[in-house]
Amino acid sequence: MINYNFFNPTKMIFGENTIGQIGSVLSGAGHKKVLLIIGGGSVKSNGVYAKVTDSLKSANIEWSECSGVRANPELSKVQEAIALAREVGIEAVLAVGGGSVIDTAKAVAVGVYLDDVWQAFERKITITRALPIFTILTLSATASEMNSNAVISHTEAGKKWGMGNPFLFPQVSIIDPSVQQSLPWEQTVNGALDALAHIMEFYFVGTVEETTIAINEALMKTIISMVDKLQVNPKDEASRANLAWAATLALNGISGAGLKGGDWACHGIEHSVSSYDAKVAHGAGLGIIFPAWMEYVHANNELQFARFAQSIWQCDTIEQAIEKMRAKIKQWQGQTKLRELNIPENSLAAIAENATMRGSLGSLKKLGTEDVEKILRLAY
Ligand code: NZQ
Ligand code: ZN
Repeated sequence: MINYNFFNPTKMIFGENTIGQIGSVLSGAGHKKVLLIIGGGSVKSNGVYAKVTDSLKSANIEWSECSGVRANPELSKVQEAIALAREVGIEAVLAVGGGSVIDTAKAVAVGVYLDDVWQAFERKITITRALPIFTILTLSATASEMNSNAVISHTEAGKKWGMGNPFLFPQVSIIDPSVQQSLPWEQTVNGALDALAHIMEFYFVGTVEETTIAINEALMKTIISMVDKLQVNPKDEASRANLAWAATLALNGISGAGLKGGDWACHGIEHSVSSYDAKVAHGAGLGIIFPAWMEYVHANNELQFARFAQSIWQCDTIEQAIEKMRAKIKQWQGQTKLRELNIPENSLAAIAENATMRGSLGSLKKLGTEDVEKILRLAY
């Protein structure tokens, strides 16, 4: 096994009726004024916003607000929030929402100290500090609530890029899975597909890392069976909770321990797809691209793909497993072909170019522009 470091400083507060703790969490950390960041309004209609602001008021925490973060969040919103943060003077950022809101908050936390936050995504500057980050998660998918990554779209430049830095770990995150009952069904599925993808990005480079591989198999089986249960009963609290925790563990460092940094080609390809068309949900894109990538690269780690076929899908061959995976996504009413997302076929070459603008993708098999285009065609 290779040597590795494991580090995760985020404190998690998990469970029903935990959102009301945010005021005392912030005041306990010595903060009196925060920037509250939210998305397009779901937190107002499902009662989360009221719980958060009631808690802030009772702890005498002042807040300024930045709302309207869209899915596949944009640099322009980050810049707007940074300007507000500088104008009003804040001590911490509080994200209330899904991965898009949390990633925006992370970029703001770093960006208030930088002339041009995009330079951090371009990896042209070293991050030396950030405002403290607190999150209340409303959609289990990205694990951004417990990791040190942020993904932002620079729309004008056609770049959807991520950055990773230890300063981006939230200090405290609250997950009340019951607030995810208001999710539209497809968002529950998208979240689960993203979490599965995070595990698979690591899993398929595995060889002898039995502990992490076995944890990852347990996480994948749990995610699949919890979505199956939620499809029958969307109000099933235990399944929401188990899905939420599995999604957090899927990308908080645990699932990658020893697995050489993972592969991440599918994420690179998907980010290019949702950069091309921001209406594409990240998880939906991954549910289409991952099976196509598996078809293309499985010969590069035949044993591990055979293990996946057996362990997760009870299949003798990887080809059968890929078909079973697509059938499962269809059963969940998800899409299995890029054409179903209304991506024009004549855009695939440009999407492949964009995905590889910083060089080849992946580690299991290094993928150049032509390889990526072939995978996109398999996914079409
Ligand atoms: O904007 P609102 O009105 O809040 O609605 C959101 C949004 O439309 C809605 N939603 C969230 N919680 C809800 C809810 N609707 C009803 N009830 C609730 N409880 O869901 C929609 C999608 O939200 P979004 O935050 O965009 O989804 P997700 O959490 O999947 O985040 C996706 C973004 O994160 C990036 C993706 O690329 C994408 O930009 N990623 C971030 C990562 C990270 N930071 O580690 C890793 C991932 O691989 C990923 O790249
Ligand atoms: Zn992802």
